[in-house]
Amino acid sequence: MDLGIKGKAAVVTGASRGIGRETARQFLEEGVRVMICGRNAETLERTRAELAQQTGGEVHAVVADMTKPADIARLIDTATQKLGGVDILINNAGQMYSGRFAVMTDEGLKEQLETKLFGFLRAIRLVYPQMKARRWGRIVNLIGGAGKEPDPYMFGSGITNSGLLNITKSLSTEFGEDNVLVNAVCPGWVATNLWQRNAQGLQEELGVKSEEEARRLAARKNALGRFGKPEELANAIVFLCSERASYITGVSLNLDGGRLKGLW
Ligand SMILES: NC(=O)c1ccc[n+]([C@@H]2O[C@H](COP(=O)([O-])OP(=O)(O)OC[C@H]3O[C@@H](n4cnc5c(N)ncnc54)[C@H](OP(=O)(O)O)[C@@H]3O)[C@@H](O)[C@H]2O)c1
Repeated sequence: MDLGIKGKAAVVTGASRGIGRETARQFLEEGVRVMICGRNAETLERTRAELAQQTGGEVHAVVADMTKPADIARLIDTATQKLGGVDILINNAGQMYSGRFAVMTDEGLKEQLETKLFGFLRAIRLVYPQMKARRWGRIVNLIGGAGKEPDPYMFGSGITNSGLLNITKSLSTEFGEDNVLVNAVCPGWVATNLWQRNAQGLQEELGVKSEEEARRLAARKNALGRFGKPEELANAIVFLCSERASYITGVSLNLDGGRLKGLW
């Protein structure tokens, strides 16, 4: 299927590894020109070079921390200069803020809100005027299932995620007349570094002895009985940014192997 986005320009935040990296790779395979960012300069440059070598595509990188407004401005400015504008924004940079109410701190929640809620909003604010002027734009927010189905262990992430779902729906309504489509994806457990960083905590939460057992119990909640792979997330993200998805806006797609059991 021709996705119809060859030559478009995309910014993928937090793309030095995991879901963001795979999304950038798939865009490059489609002939999309890409700007990636991350905080660690060495990992970011290694990824940029590998993606360029693997795909032969045009890929740039800027070291940027999405909790810092000046970094976000520099990222979008550089992308605009190097790519001649931004048609597609993937708000992906982020982490999970897990742990129950008893261990949640104001500082921890503020950090999560700065990264995912304000980080996403600020990037959207900067790219939207260009998309509106061109009457073409795609924005995809990486959220997470705890925004739809509160889980005591995912308290901090759930607070942020439900705000992001509201932002996605509200902006899809506001930007619709400009042909700027705003959608979200809600991953379940995906086998990335993020899972590794949370494995110990989940093991304690589930009261099991090994990481393997925690993974098995977590996966059992999914209809498909396994974790997702970054490429399975990227397949859907890239499709939502394509010409083939031209009538899809305001959705939050569960990419969780059937973990959430509710009707939305
Ligand atoms: N994996 C899952 O199971 C899962 C589940 C639900 C939701 N999600 C969401 O999916 C997204 C991607 O997750 P992932 O699993 O691919 O994570 P990951 O493997 O940890 O990768 C995260 C990427 O984002 C970058 N990053 C993190 N914080 C950043 C910041 N403040 N500014 C700029 N870059 C930043 C990281 O690079 P640096 O560390 O070098 O900055 C890295 O490139 C996240 O928003 C996450 O919340 C993931």
